[in-house]
Amino acid sequence: MALLYDDNSFDKIICLEVLEWVEDPKKVISEMKRVLKPGGKALIGHTDFDTQIFTTKNLARERRINQTFCDLGPDGTIGRKLKGMCNKVGFKKVDYIVYTLTNESFEENNYSYRIAYMMKEWLVKESEVYLEDLEAWIEEMKDLSSKEEFYYSINRYLTICEK
Ligand SMILES: C[S@@+](CC[C@H](N)C(=O)[O-])C[C@H]1O[C@@H](n2cnc3c(N)ncnc32)[C@H](O)[C@@H]1O
Repeated sequence: MALLYDDNSFDKIICLEVLEWVEDPKKVISEMKRVLKPGGKALIGHTDFDTQIFTTKNLARERRINQTFCDLGPDGTIGRKLKGMCNKVGFKKVDYIVYTLTNESFEENNYSYRIAYMMKEWLVKESEVYLEDLEAWIEEMKDLSSKEEFYYSINRYLTICEK
């Protein structure tokens, strides 16, 4: 929220998946604007965790796990608010892109696999979802993946802000 750089210092800034964790994201964006040179650009992006979908047979369980995870972080739906925040900071121009990350299998090293295990760990630690439900959810996705019936997607919202 207070960058240790002079005004008009940078041609380009990249800020990905950070704003959810700061107290005042608009202040961070205005700091990025301050340290950008005139004509400089900031690429700012954030996932919106409410857009996450995993193919499973038990849809009620899948929704409960996803929504609980989304609501457990400081602001799981910040992705959809990013454009509005950047508009308010007063850049000369704000372009907007939605990037959808997809996986067609549930395997180690895929984003869906890694985030599902992270979600399991987090939700169990916070006692928000029963361990048995999370394990059954993961086993089901492995099974669907082995039958080539698995699909995953999540949206990332990106703004390109020009000073
Ligand atoms: C989800 S990670 C994203 C890391 C990386 N930018 C990426 O896209 O892979 C969130 C990052 O925000 C950083 N972060 C959280 N609060 C911060 C703060 N107040 N100031 C600077 N960085 C912060 C953390 O150190 C962490 O690296």
